[in-house]
Amino acid sequence: MNLESLKSQLAKYSQEHVLEYWDELSDEERQSLAAQIEDVDFETIATLVAGKDEKIDFETLAANAETPPSVRADGSGAKWSVDEARQRGEAALRAGEVGAILVAGGQGTRLGFDQPKGMFPIGPISNRTLFQIFADRLLAIGKKYGVAIPFYIMTSDATDAETRAYFQENNYLGMSPDDVRIFRQGTMPAVDAKTGKLLMASKSSLALSPDGHGGTVRALDRNGCLDDAKKRGVKCLSYFQVDNPLVNVCEPTLIGHHLLSGSEMTTQVIRKRYAMEKVGNIALAGGKVQVIEYSDLPQKAAEATDADGQLKLWAGSIGVHVIDVDFLCRASQSTSSLPFHRAQKKVPYLDANQNVVSPSEPNAVKFEKFIFDLLPSAKNAFVVEVLPSEGFAPVKNADGAENDTPKLAREAIVAQHRRWLEAAGASVAEGVKVEINPRFSLTPEELATKIPANLHIDADRYFEA
Ligand code: UD1
Repeated sequence: MNLESLKSQLAKYSQEHVLEYWDELSDEERQSLAAQIEDVDFETIATLVAGKDEKIDFETLAANAETPPSVRADGSGAKWSVDEARQRGEAALRAGEVGAILVAGGQGTRLGFDQPKGMFPIGPISNRTLFQIFADRLLAIGKKYGVAIPFYIMTSDATDAETRAYFQENNYLGMSPDDVRIFRQGTMPAVDAKTGKLLMASKSSLALSPDGHGGTVRALDRNGCLDDAKKRGVKCLSYFQVDNPLVNVCEPTLIGHHLLSGSEMTTQVIRKRYAMEKVGNIALAGGKVQVIEYSDLPQKAAEATDADGQLKLWAGSIGVHVIDVDFLCRASQSTSSLPFHRAQKKVPYLDANQNVVSPSEPNAVKFEKFIFDLLPSAKNAFVVEVLPSEGFAPVKNADGAENDTPKLAREAIVAQHRRWLEAAGASVAEGVKVEINPRFSLTPEELATKIPANLHIDADRYFEA
Protein backbone atom coordinates (compact mmCIF):
# COMPACT_ATOMS: atom_id res chain seq x y z
CA MET A 1 0.00 0.00 0.00
CA ASN A 2 1.38 3.38 -0.96
CA LEU A 3 -0.26 6.34 0.77
CA GLU A 4 0.91 8.88 -1.78
CA SER A 5 -0.50 6.98 -4.72
CA LEU A 6 -3.79 6.48 -2.84
CA LYS A 7 -3.95 10.21 -2.16
CA SER A 8 -3.31 11.19 -5.73
CA GLN A 9 -5.84 8.66 -6.99
CA LEU A 10 -8.45 10.08 -4.59
CA ALA A 11 -7.58 13.68 -5.43
CA LYS A 12 -8.12 12.98 -9.11
CA TYR A 13 -11.73 12.09 -8.32
CA SER A 14 -12.30 14.60 -5.46
CA GLN A 15 -12.76 11.82 -2.92
CA GLU A 16 -9.86 12.70 -0.55
CA HIS A 17 -12.23 12.94 2.42
CA VAL A 18 -12.10 9.15 2.86
CA LEU A 19 -8.59 9.55 4.35
CA GLU A 20 -9.67 12.29 6.76
CA TYR A 21 -9.07 10.11 9.86
CA TRP A 22 -6.01 8.28 8.53
CA ASP A 23 -3.72 9.60 11.26
CA GLU A 24 -6.00 8.23 13.97
CA LEU A 25 -6.16 4.72 12.54
CA SER A 26 -4.25 1.64 13.67
CA ASP A 27 -2.05 -0.19 11.15
CA GLU A 28 -4.70 -2.83 10.72
CA GLU A 29 -7.44 -0.26 10.11
CA ARG A 30 -5.24 1.54 7.60
CA GLN A 31 -4.61 -1.65 5.71
CA SER A 32 -8.24 -2.54 5.54
CA LEU A 33 -9.31 0.97 4.45
CA ALA A 34 -6.57 1.07 1.82
CA ALA A 35 -7.69 -2.32 0.49
CA GLN A 36 -11.26 -1.06 0.23
CA ILE A 37 -10.15 2.06 -1.61
CA GLU A 38 -7.93 0.11 -3.99
CA ASP A 39 -10.89 -2.07 -4.89
CA VAL A 40 -13.02 0.91 -5.97
CA ASP A 41 -13.32 1.59 -9.68
CA PHE A 42 -13.22 5.39 -9.38
CA GLU A 43 -13.56 5.98 -13.09
CA THR A 44 -16.86 4.09 -13.15
CA ILE A 45 -18.11 5.83 -10.00
CA ALA A 46 -17.27 9.23 -11.50
CA THR A 47 -19.10 8.34 -14.72
CA LEU A 48 -22.14 7.14 -12.77
CA VAL A 49 -22.19 10.15 -10.45
CA ALA A 50 -21.94 12.48 -13.43
CA GLY A 51 -24.79 10.56 -15.08
CA LYS A 52 -22.61 9.96 -18.12
CA ASP A 53 -23.23 6.23 -18.31
CA GLU A 54 -25.39 4.96 -21.14
CA LYS A 55 -29.00 5.06 -20.02
CA ILE A 56 -31.79 2.95 -21.37
CA ASP A 57 -34.82 4.88 -22.56
CA PHE A 58 -37.42 2.56 -21.07
CA GLU A 59 -40.33 4.65 -22.32
CA THR A 60 -39.35 4.17 -25.96
CA LEU A 61 -38.26 0.62 -25.35
CA ALA A 62 -41.57 -0.24 -23.69
CA ALA A 63 -43.60 1.50 -26.40
CA ASN A 64 -42.01 -0.80 -29.00
CA ALA A 65 -42.03 -3.91 -26.84
CA GLU A 66 -43.48 -7.16 -28.16
CA THR A 67 -44.03 -10.61 -26.74
CA PRO A 68 -40.68 -12.45 -26.56
CA PRO A 69 -39.95 -15.83 -28.23
CA SER A 70 -41.28 -18.37 -25.78
CA VAL A 71 -42.81 -21.70 -24.99
CA ARG A 72 -45.93 -21.58 -22.87
CA ALA A 73 -46.76 -23.78 -19.90
CA ASP A 74 -48.98 -25.98 -22.12
CA GLY A 75 -46.05 -26.59 -24.48
CA SER A 76 -47.30 -24.30 -27.26
CA GLY A 77 -44.99 -21.87 -29.01
CA ALA A 78 -42.01 -24.16 -29.59
CA LYS A 79 -41.14 -26.23 -32.65
CA TRP A 80 -40.44 -29.24 -30.40
CA SER A 81 -42.64 -31.04 -27.91
CA VAL A 82 -42.36 -30.98 -24.12
CA ASP A 83 -41.31 -34.65 -24.24
CA GLU A 84 -38.50 -33.85 -26.65
CA ALA A 85 -37.38 -31.01 -24.39
CA ARG A 86 -37.38 -33.29 -21.34
CA GLN A 87 -35.38 -35.95 -23.13
CA ARG A 88 -32.84 -33.40 -24.36
CA GLY A 89 -32.48 -31.98 -20.86
CA GLU A 90 -32.12 -35.45 -19.37
CA ALA A 91 -29.36 -36.27 -21.85
CA ALA A 92 -27.47 -33.11 -20.83
CA LEU A 93 -27.89 -33.94 -17.13
CA ARG A 94 -26.72 -37.51 -17.68
CA ALA A 95 -23.67 -36.20 -19.55
CA GLY A 96 -22.78 -34.02 -16.54
CA GLU A 97 -23.24 -30.85 -18.57
CA VAL A 98 -25.39 -28.99 -16.01
CA GLY A 99 -24.38 -27.14 -12.84
CA ALA A 100 -26.30 -24.94 -10.40
CA ILE A 101 -25.67 -21.35 -9.34
CA LEU A 102 -27.52 -19.84 -6.39
CA VAL A 103 -27.40 -16.13 -5.65
CA ALA A 104 -27.58 -15.70 -1.91
CA GLY A 105 -26.01 -12.32 -1.25
CA GLY A 106 -29.22 -10.51 -0.30
CA GLN A 107 -29.97 -9.77 3.32
CA GLY A 108 -33.62 -10.60 3.71
CA THR A 109 -34.37 -7.28 5.37
CA ARG A 110 -38.03 -7.38 4.31
CA LEU A 111 -38.41 -10.85 5.81
CA GLY A 112 -37.09 -9.65 9.16
CA PHE A 113 -34.68 -12.61 9.42
CA ASP A 114 -31.21 -11.68 10.63
CA GLN A 115 -29.31 -14.66 9.20
CA PRO A 116 -28.63 -15.46 5.54
CA LYS A 117 -32.00 -16.12 3.95
CA GLY A 118 -30.94 -19.60 2.85
CA MET A 119 -30.94 -20.59 6.53
CA PHE A 120 -34.62 -19.75 6.86
CA PRO A 121 -36.65 -22.87 7.82
CA ILE A 122 -39.40 -23.33 5.26
CA GLY A 123 -40.22 -27.08 5.02
CA PRO A 124 -43.91 -27.20 6.07
CA ILE A 125 -43.38 -30.31 8.22
CA SER A 126 -39.66 -31.02 8.03
CA ASN A 127 -38.68 -27.43 8.83
CA ARG A 128 -35.86 -27.86 6.30
CA THR A 129 -34.08 -24.64 5.44
CA LEU A 130 -34.09 -23.16 1.95
CA PHE A 131 -30.45 -24.26 1.54
CA GLN A 132 -31.38 -27.82 2.56
CA ILE A 133 -34.31 -27.92 0.15
CA PHE A 134 -32.01 -26.91 -2.73
CA ALA A 135 -29.29 -29.38 -1.70
CA ASP A 136 -31.84 -32.21 -1.45
CA ARG A 137 -33.00 -31.44 -4.96
CA LEU A 138 -29.48 -31.38 -6.37
CA LEU A 139 -28.66 -34.66 -4.62
CA ALA A 140 -31.83 -36.26 -5.99
CA ILE A 141 -31.12 -35.06 -9.52
CA GLY A 142 -27.49 -36.15 -9.28
CA LYS A 143 -28.54 -39.61 -8.13
CA LYS A 144 -31.20 -39.97 -10.81
CA TYR A 145 -28.81 -39.10 -13.63
CA GLY A 146 -25.69 -40.68 -12.14
CA VAL A 147 -23.67 -37.47 -11.78
CA ALA A 148 -22.55 -34.97 -9.15
CA ILE A 149 -24.06 -31.56 -9.82
CA PRO A 150 -21.64 -28.78 -8.87
CA PHE A 151 -23.33 -26.21 -6.64
CA TYR A 152 -21.93 -22.67 -6.86
CA ILE A 153 -23.23 -20.38 -4.14
CA MET A 154 -22.68 -16.65 -4.28
CA THR A 155 -22.64 -14.82 -0.96
CA SER A 156 -21.91 -11.21 -0.01
CA ASP A 157 -19.94 -9.63 2.83
CA ALA A 158 -23.15 -9.79 4.87
CA THR A 159 -23.88 -13.48 4.30
CA ASP A 160 -20.52 -15.12 3.57
CA ALA A 161 -19.19 -16.18 6.99
CA GLU A 162 -22.50 -17.51 8.29
CA THR A 163 -23.24 -19.36 5.06
CA ARG A 164 -19.82 -21.06 5.10
CA ALA A 165 -20.20 -21.98 8.78
CA TYR A 166 -23.69 -23.33 8.14
CA PHE A 167 -22.51 -25.62 5.34
CA GLN A 168 -19.48 -26.78 7.33
CA GLU A 169 -21.43 -27.45 10.52
CA ASN A 170 -24.13 -29.30 8.62
CA ASN A 171 -21.88 -31.62 6.66
CA TYR A 172 -22.48 -29.72 3.42
CA LEU A 173 -26.14 -30.75 3.70
CA GLY A 174 -25.28 -34.19 2.43
CA MET A 175 -23.38 -32.99 -0.62
CA SER A 176 -19.72 -33.66 -1.21
CA PRO A 177 -17.68 -30.57 -0.16
CA ASP A 178 -15.90 -30.93 -3.54
CA ASP A 179 -19.18 -30.15 -5.27
CA VAL A 180 -20.03 -27.04 -3.23
CA ARG A 181 -18.19 -23.79 -3.97
CA ILE A 182 -19.14 -20.81 -1.86
CA PHE A 183 -17.77 -17.53 -3.17
CA ARG A 184 -18.27 -13.90 -2.36
CA GLN A 185 -19.60 -11.24 -4.71
CA GLY A 186 -18.00 -7.84 -5.18
CA THR A 187 -19.06 -4.55 -3.63
CA MET A 188 -19.84 -1.04 -4.76
CA PRO A 189 -19.53 2.05 -2.59
CA ALA A 190 -22.65 4.04 -1.79
CA VAL A 191 -22.40 7.74 -2.59
CA ASP A 192 -24.07 10.75 -1.03
CA ALA A 193 -27.13 11.45 -3.16
CA LYS A 194 -26.50 15.21 -3.16
CA THR A 195 -22.74 15.44 -3.53
CA GLY A 196 -21.63 12.17 -5.12
CA LYS A 197 -18.99 11.75 -2.38
CA LEU A 198 -18.27 8.24 -1.13
CA LEU A 199 -20.02 7.68 2.20
CA MET A 200 -18.01 6.37 5.15
CA ALA A 201 -19.45 3.67 7.41
CA SER A 202 -16.82 4.47 10.06
CA LYS A 203 -13.50 6.30 10.25
CA SER A 204 -11.81 3.28 8.76
CA SER A 205 -14.35 1.90 6.31
CA LEU A 206 -16.35 2.91 3.28
CA ALA A 207 -20.10 2.32 3.14
CA LEU A 208 -20.03 -0.63 0.76
CA SER A 209 -22.86 -2.78 -0.48
CA PRO A 210 -23.11 -5.83 -2.76
CA ASP A 211 -22.82 -5.03 -6.46
CA GLY A 212 -26.15 -6.69 -7.34
CA HIS A 213 -26.82 -10.17 -8.68
CA GLY A 214 -25.26 -9.01 -11.94
CA GLY A 215 -22.03 -9.20 -9.92
CA THR A 216 -22.35 -12.98 -10.34
CA VAL A 217 -20.62 -12.82 -13.72
CA ARG A 218 -17.41 -11.25 -12.42
CA ALA A 219 -17.46 -13.13 -9.13
CA LEU A 220 -17.87 -16.51 -10.87
CA ASP A 221 -14.88 -15.70 -13.03
CA ARG A 222 -12.68 -14.19 -10.28
CA ASN A 223 -13.25 -17.13 -7.97
CA GLY A 224 -12.37 -19.77 -10.52
CA CYS A 225 -15.92 -21.15 -10.79
CA LEU A 226 -16.10 -20.78 -14.57
CA ASP A 227 -12.78 -22.63 -14.92
CA ASP A 228 -14.05 -25.27 -12.51
CA ALA A 229 -17.26 -25.67 -14.51
CA LYS A 230 -15.32 -26.01 -17.75
CA LYS A 231 -12.96 -28.57 -16.25
CA ARG A 232 -15.95 -30.65 -15.17
CA GLY A 233 -17.48 -30.44 -18.65
CA VAL A 234 -20.39 -28.32 -17.42
CA LYS A 235 -21.90 -26.41 -20.35
CA CYS A 236 -24.75 -24.55 -18.69
CA LEU A 237 -25.71 -23.34 -15.24
CA SER A 238 -29.15 -23.45 -13.71
CA TYR A 239 -29.37 -20.04 -12.00
CA PHE A 240 -31.78 -19.32 -9.15
CA GLN A 241 -32.57 -16.99 -6.26
CA VAL A 242 -32.40 -18.00 -2.62
CA ASP A 243 -35.97 -17.05 -1.81
CA ASN A 244 -37.94 -19.59 -3.84
CA PRO A 245 -38.49 -23.07 -2.34
CA LEU A 246 -40.55 -24.21 -5.36
CA VAL A 247 -37.79 -23.35 -7.82
CA ASN A 248 -37.16 -25.81 -10.70
CA VAL A 249 -33.38 -26.09 -10.22
CA CYS A 250 -31.74 -28.21 -12.94
CA GLU A 251 -35.16 -29.22 -14.24
CA PRO A 252 -34.72 -31.38 -17.39
CA THR A 253 -37.54 -29.84 -19.45
CA LEU A 254 -36.35 -26.29 -18.80
CA ILE A 255 -32.77 -27.28 -19.69
CA GLY A 256 -34.08 -29.05 -22.81
CA HIS A 257 -35.98 -25.97 -24.00
CA HIS A 258 -32.79 -23.97 -23.51
CA LEU A 259 -30.73 -26.41 -25.56
CA LEU A 260 -33.27 -26.99 -28.33
CA SER A 261 -33.79 -23.26 -28.85
CA GLY A 262 -30.04 -22.78 -29.34
CA SER A 263 -30.20 -20.12 -26.66
CA GLU A 264 -27.27 -18.82 -24.64
CA MET A 265 -29.58 -17.62 -21.88
CA THR A 266 -33.09 -18.81 -21.18
CA THR A 267 -35.32 -17.32 -18.57
CA GLN A 268 -38.22 -18.99 -16.83
CA VAL A 269 -41.23 -16.76 -16.27
CA ILE A 270 -44.75 -16.75 -14.91
CA ARG A 271 -47.76 -15.29 -16.62
CA LYS A 272 -48.49 -11.96 -14.97
CA ARG A 273 -51.85 -11.89 -13.17
CA TYR A 274 -52.43 -8.26 -14.08
CA ALA A 275 -50.73 -5.60 -16.18
CA MET A 276 -49.02 -3.64 -13.44
CA GLU A 277 -47.89 -6.62 -11.33
CA LYS A 278 -44.61 -5.90 -9.52
CA VAL A 279 -42.28 -8.22 -11.42
CA GLY A 280 -39.68 -7.67 -14.10
CA ASN A 281 -41.26 -7.80 -17.58
CA ILE A 282 -39.61 -9.82 -20.31
CA ALA A 283 -40.06 -8.18 -23.68
CA LEU A 284 -38.73 -8.32 -27.20
CA ALA A 285 -37.61 -4.82 -28.18
CA GLY A 286 -35.28 -3.75 -30.96
CA GLY A 287 -34.85 -7.43 -31.87
CA LYS A 288 -33.50 -8.26 -28.41
CA VAL A 289 -34.96 -9.93 -25.37
CA GLN A 290 -34.83 -7.51 -22.44
CA VAL A 291 -36.19 -7.13 -18.93
CA ILE A 292 -38.06 -3.98 -18.05
CA GLU A 293 -38.49 -3.67 -14.27
CA TYR A 294 -42.04 -2.84 -13.22
CA SER A 295 -40.80 0.47 -11.85
CA ASP A 296 -39.60 1.43 -15.35
CA LEU A 297 -42.68 0.23 -17.21
CA PRO A 298 -45.20 2.93 -18.23
CA GLN A 299 -48.82 1.92 -17.62
CA LYS A 300 -49.76 2.24 -21.30
CA ALA A 301 -47.11 -0.24 -22.38
CA ALA A 302 -47.98 -2.56 -19.48
CA GLU A 303 -51.60 -2.64 -20.58
CA ALA A 304 -50.99 -3.07 -24.32
CA THR A 305 -52.66 -6.19 -25.74
CA ASP A 306 -52.21 -8.28 -28.88
CA ALA A 307 -54.87 -9.25 -31.47
CA ASP A 308 -56.31 -11.86 -29.05
CA GLY A 309 -56.72 -9.30 -26.30
CA GLN A 310 -53.88 -10.86 -24.28
CA LEU A 311 -51.22 -8.74 -22.57
CA LYS A 312 -48.20 -8.32 -24.85
CA LEU A 313 -45.97 -8.15 -21.83
CA TRP A 314 -47.36 -11.23 -20.11
CA ALA A 315 -44.03 -12.69 -19.04
CA GLY A 316 -43.03 -11.87 -15.46
CA SER A 317 -39.47 -12.55 -14.32
CA ILE A 318 -38.94 -14.95 -11.40
CA GLY A 319 -35.15 -14.80 -11.41
CA VAL A 320 -34.71 -18.34 -12.78
CA HIS A 321 -32.40 -18.74 -15.76
CA VAL A 322 -30.29 -21.23 -17.64
CA ILE A 323 -27.03 -19.66 -18.79
CA ASP A 324 -24.28 -21.12 -20.98
CA VAL A 325 -20.85 -21.26 -19.38
CA ASP A 326 -19.19 -20.07 -22.61
CA PHE A 327 -21.53 -17.08 -22.67
CA LEU A 328 -20.65 -16.26 -19.04
CA CYS A 329 -16.95 -16.48 -19.92
CA ARG A 330 -17.47 -14.06 -22.80
CA ALA A 331 -19.52 -11.68 -20.65
CA SER A 332 -16.93 -11.77 -17.85
CA GLN A 333 -14.27 -10.52 -20.27
CA SER A 334 -16.37 -7.63 -21.54
CA THR A 335 -16.40 -4.48 -19.41
CA SER A 336 -19.52 -3.15 -21.05
CA SER A 337 -21.69 -6.23 -20.68
CA LEU A 338 -23.86 -5.05 -17.80
CA PRO A 339 -25.07 -1.55 -16.98
CA PHE A 340 -25.44 -0.23 -13.44
CA HIS A 341 -28.88 0.56 -12.02
CA ARG A 342 -29.33 3.23 -9.36
CA ALA A 343 -31.37 2.95 -6.20
CA GLN A 344 -32.00 5.71 -3.68
CA LYS A 345 -31.48 4.12 -0.25
CA LYS A 346 -31.12 4.93 3.43
CA VAL A 347 -27.46 4.25 4.19
CA PRO A 348 -25.99 4.84 7.69
CA TYR A 349 -22.94 7.10 7.43
CA LEU A 350 -20.29 8.90 9.45
CA ASP A 351 -21.20 12.59 9.58
CA ALA A 352 -18.95 15.62 9.95
CA ASN A 353 -19.25 15.37 13.76
CA GLN A 354 -17.90 11.82 13.66
CA ASN A 355 -21.27 10.30 14.56
CA VAL A 356 -22.75 7.39 12.66
CA VAL A 357 -26.16 8.60 11.51
CA SER A 358 -29.04 6.31 10.48
CA PRO A 359 -31.07 8.51 8.15
CA SER A 360 -34.88 8.35 8.10
CA GLU A 361 -35.05 9.35 4.42
CA PRO A 362 -33.00 8.05 1.48
CA ASN A 363 -29.67 9.86 1.57
CA ALA A 364 -27.56 7.74 -0.74
CA VAL A 365 -27.35 6.22 -4.16
CA LYS A 366 -26.41 2.55 -4.48
CA PHE A 367 -25.29 1.05 -7.77
CA GLU A 368 -26.21 -2.49 -8.75
CA LYS A 369 -25.91 -4.73 -11.77
CA PHE A 370 -28.68 -7.16 -12.67
CA ILE A 371 -28.02 -10.59 -14.16
CA PHE A 372 -30.99 -10.38 -16.50
CA ASP A 373 -29.31 -7.52 -18.35
CA LEU A 374 -27.25 -10.27 -20.00
CA LEU A 375 -30.33 -11.27 -22.01
CA PRO A 376 -29.97 -8.68 -24.82
CA SER A 377 -26.46 -9.90 -25.60
CA ALA A 378 -27.34 -13.60 -25.49
CA LYS A 379 -27.82 -15.40 -28.80
CA ASN A 380 -31.38 -16.69 -29.29
CA ALA A 381 -32.46 -15.69 -25.77
CA PHE A 382 -35.57 -17.69 -24.96
CA VAL A 383 -38.47 -17.61 -22.48
CA VAL A 384 -40.14 -20.60 -20.81
CA GLU A 385 -43.39 -20.26 -18.88
CA VAL A 386 -43.98 -22.16 -15.64
CA LEU A 387 -47.16 -22.17 -13.58
CA PRO A 388 -46.58 -20.41 -10.24
CA SER A 389 -48.03 -23.46 -8.48
CA GLU A 390 -45.19 -25.53 -9.99
CA GLY A 391 -42.27 -23.19 -9.69
CA PHE A 392 -42.66 -19.92 -7.83
CA ALA A 393 -43.51 -19.28 -4.17
CA PRO A 394 -40.99 -16.67 -3.02
CA VAL A 395 -40.29 -15.91 0.62
CA LYS A 396 -39.79 -12.17 0.65
CA ASN A 397 -42.03 -10.62 3.30
CA ALA A 398 -42.73 -11.48 6.94
CA ASP A 399 -45.95 -13.33 7.75
CA GLY A 400 -48.86 -10.95 7.91
CA ALA A 401 -47.99 -9.27 4.62
CA GLU A 402 -50.35 -9.73 1.68
CA ASN A 403 -48.00 -11.75 -0.52
CA ASP A 404 -44.70 -13.63 -0.77
CA THR A 405 -44.73 -14.74 2.89
CA PRO A 406 -43.35 -17.94 4.50
CA LYS A 407 -46.93 -19.03 5.30
CA LEU A 408 -47.97 -18.77 1.65
CA ALA A 409 -44.80 -20.54 0.48
CA ARG A 410 -45.42 -23.45 2.90
CA GLU A 411 -49.02 -23.67 1.68
CA ALA A 412 -47.78 -23.75 -1.92
CA ILE A 413 -45.37 -26.62 -1.11
CA VAL A 414 -48.14 -28.59 0.62
CA ALA A 415 -50.56 -27.93 -2.26
CA GLN A 416 -48.02 -29.09 -4.85
CA HIS A 417 -47.23 -32.28 -2.93
CA ARG A 418 -50.92 -32.98 -2.32
CA ARG A 419 -51.48 -32.75 -6.11
CA TRP A 420 -48.58 -35.13 -6.70
CA LEU A 421 -49.93 -37.65 -4.19
CA GLU A 422 -53.43 -37.44 -5.64
CA ALA A 423 -52.04 -37.88 -9.17
CA ALA A 424 -50.21 -40.95 -7.88
CA GLY A 425 -53.50 -42.44 -6.66
CA ALA A 426 -53.37 -41.46 -2.97
CA SER A 427 -56.08 -39.58 -1.09
CA VAL A 428 -55.18 -36.88 1.40
CA ALA A 429 -57.71 -35.80 4.04
CA GLU A 430 -58.80 -32.19 4.13
CA GLY A 431 -56.55 -29.90 6.17
CA VAL A 432 -53.72 -32.45 6.38
CA LYS A 433 -50.20 -31.30 5.51
CA VAL A 434 -47.94 -33.34 3.25
CA GLU A 435 -44.35 -32.75 2.22
CA ILE A 436 -42.16 -34.77 -0.11
CA ASN A 437 -38.38 -34.64 -0.01
CA PRO A 438 -37.09 -34.73 -3.63
CA ARG A 439 -34.76 -37.51 -2.49
CA PHE A 440 -37.91 -39.57 -1.91
CA SER A 441 -39.43 -38.55 -5.24
CA LEU A 442 -38.52 -35.89 -7.75
CA THR A 443 -41.70 -36.10 -9.82
CA PRO A 444 -45.32 -37.28 -9.49
CA GLU A 445 -44.49 -40.17 -11.85
CA GLU A 446 -41.69 -41.38 -9.60
CA LEU A 447 -43.94 -41.00 -6.57
CA ALA A 448 -46.52 -43.35 -8.12
CA THR A 449 -43.92 -46.12 -8.12
CA LYS A 450 -43.01 -45.54 -4.47
CA ILE A 451 -46.28 -45.39 -2.57
CA PRO A 452 -48.77 -48.22 -1.98
CA ALA A 453 -51.92 -48.29 -4.09
CA ASN A 454 -54.93 -46.54 -2.53
CA LEU A 455 -52.82 -44.89 0.15
CA HIS A 456 -54.94 -42.74 2.43
CA ILE A 457 -53.24 -40.01 4.41
CA ASP A 458 -55.19 -38.65 7.37
CA ALA A 459 -52.40 -37.08 9.44
CA ASP A 460 -49.52 -34.76 8.55
CA ARG A 461 -46.88 -36.77 6.72
CA TYR A 462 -43.34 -36.06 5.54
CA PHE A 463 -41.99 -38.41 2.89
CA GLU A 464 -38.33 -38.41 3.82
CA ALA A 465 -35.31 -39.39 1.82
C1 UD1 B 1 -36.27 -9.88 -8.05
C2 UD1 B 1 -36.29 -9.30 -9.48
C3 UD1 B 1 -37.68 -9.19 -10.03
C4 UD1 B 1 -38.36 -10.55 -9.94
C5 UD1 B 1 -38.31 -11.08 -8.51
C6 UD1 B 1 -38.86 -12.49 -8.45
C7 UD1 B 1 -34.37 -7.83 -9.50
C8 UD1 B 1 -33.85 -6.46 -9.59
N1 UD1 B 1 -35.67 -7.97 -9.47
O1 UD1 B 1 -36.83 -8.93 -7.18
O2 UD1 B 1 -37.64 -8.80 -11.40
O3 UD1 B 1 -39.70 -10.42 -10.39
O4 UD1 B 1 -36.96 -11.11 -8.02
O5 UD1 B 1 -38.69 -13.05 -7.19
O6 UD1 B 1 -33.65 -8.80 -9.48
N2 UD1 B 1 -28.88 -10.92 -4.63
C9 UD1 B 1 -27.52 -11.15 -4.45
N3 UD1 B 1 -26.70 -10.08 -4.46
C10 UD1 B 1 -27.13 -8.81 -4.61
C11 UD1 B 1 -28.51 -8.58 -4.78
C12 UD1 B 1 -29.36 -9.67 -4.77
O7 UD1 B 1 -27.07 -12.30 -4.33
O8 UD1 B 1 -26.30 -7.89 -4.63
C13 UD1 B 1 -29.77 -12.09 -4.65
C14 UD1 B 1 -30.68 -12.19 -3.44
O9 UD1 B 1 -30.05 -12.93 -2.40
C15 UD1 B 1 -31.87 -12.94 -4.04
C16 UD1 B 1 -31.92 -12.43 -5.49
O10 UD1 B 1 -30.64 -11.94 -5.77
O11 UD1 B 1 -31.63 -14.33 -4.06
C17 UD1 B 1 -33.01 -11.38 -5.77
O12 UD1 B 1 -32.73 -10.22 -5.08
P1 UD1 B 1 -33.83 -9.28 -4.45
O13 UD1 B 1 -33.20 -7.98 -4.18
O14 UD1 B 1 -34.48 -10.01 -3.32
O15 UD1 B 1 -34.85 -9.12 -5.67
P2 UD1 B 1 -36.38 -8.72 -5.65
O16 UD1 B 1 -36.53 -7.28 -5.36
O17 UD1 B 1 -37.13 -9.63 -4.78
